[in-house]
Amino acid sequence: MKITILGGGGFLGRRVAQKLAESGELGGRRIESMVLFDLMPPAGLEAPFAVTSIGGDIADLPEAAMPPGTDVVFHLAAVVSAAAEADYDLGRRVNLRGTDAVIDACRRLVAGGGAPPRVVFTSSVASFSGGQSVFLEDDTRQVPANSYGTQKAAAEMLLADATRRGFLDAVCLRLPTIIVRPGRPNKAASSFFSAIVREPLLGLETLLPVPDDFAVWVASPRRATEWLIHAAAMDTAPLGLDRSLNPPGMSVKVGDILAALDAVRQGATALVKRVPDPVIAGIVGGWPAGFNVVRAPALGFSRHEPLIDVIRAFVADDLEATRQDRALG
Ligand SMILES: NC(=O)c1ccc[n+]([C@@H]2O[C@H](COP(=O)([O-])OP(=O)(O)OC[C@H]3O[C@@H](n4cnc5c(N)ncnc54)[C@H](O)[C@@H]3O)[C@@H](O)[C@H]2O)c1
Repeated sequence: MKITILGGGGFLGRRVAQKLAESGELGGRRIESMVLFDLMPPAGLEAPFAVTSIGGDIADLPEAAMPPGTDVVFHLAAVVSAAAEADYDLGRRVNLRGTDAVIDACRRLVAGGGAPPRVVFTSSVASFSGGQSVFLEDDTRQVPANSYGTQKAAAEMLLADATRRGFLDAVCLRLPTIIVRPGRPNKAASSFFSAIVREPLLGLETLLPVPDDFAVWVASPRRATEWLIHAAAMDTAPLGLDRSLNPPGMSVKVGDILAALDAVRQGATALVKRVPDPVIAGIVGGWPAGFNVVRAPALGFSRHEPLIDVIRAFVADDLEATRQDRALG
């Protein structure tokens, strides 16, 4: 089995690559080779199969990124929410034309006699609006309130149509906000949801731009990685024409996150400073508070673990590496 990870140097791309390297298989089939593609060639990976790292722009996808015989493509490369809002042209080029380039690459593979590759695409909760007062159903229509969400929703449509035409076999996961993200704060409007856990655990102050009773739909890196791998191996026949799924995240209040943090490291929340930010609050405040998910669990997507386990997992998996990356001694 040949696999490509577009955005393979990013947070989730790296985790998917590592998980597959550990198991050496996907859906019971042995992995022969993997391509990691990102703006810069991603760092190598210890794996029981050949790994090739390629750097480039997804909007101008080189053929080597998806060589003949590619079975599975994880399409994770993206310009994230606040960055896509700040730079309209960049967001549209990467998030929309980048997806177009993936579709064209799949068409080339099929035209060359290959089977339509499975494409696992990461859409986002940001493709919905409705705000704090709503819990959405599986079939709620996407009405995005930002350019990133619009580009993600449009990409879902293009991938569903490309599936219908036989160019590829898409599964689009509308990922919740992933916490706890290691490393540094980034340009996602949702960056603070991770920062309010990560920074205090590193002994650093951090800002909280929304009130404690703000509700957010979240998932852990472990759960998201598992979902992405499940999406790559699942039987897609039951999806029919609708190739998009809301995976089973969990709706939590910011105050719940802080309480779980204090339960893991007593007193840590003293480093969280409440400083309202109307710009950030304006973006994340438009996202729904949560979802009633039925379809994804019925298709084998695992339910979420409790918040306290999410924070403990960050401490076990990422805290020390983050401390070292940031030279915090
Ligand atoms: N992390 C979250 O909370 C979250 C939530 C919902 C959806 N998502 C989606 O999941 C995917 C992965 O998210 P992540 O958190 O790992 O983000 P990330 O920013 O860590 O990874 C995205 C990768 O895409 C790469 N990239 C950007 N522009 C590119 C280009 N022109 N060509 C090639 N590569 C390019 C980046 O260099 C980066 O490594 C993204 O599509 C994101 O929109 C993430």
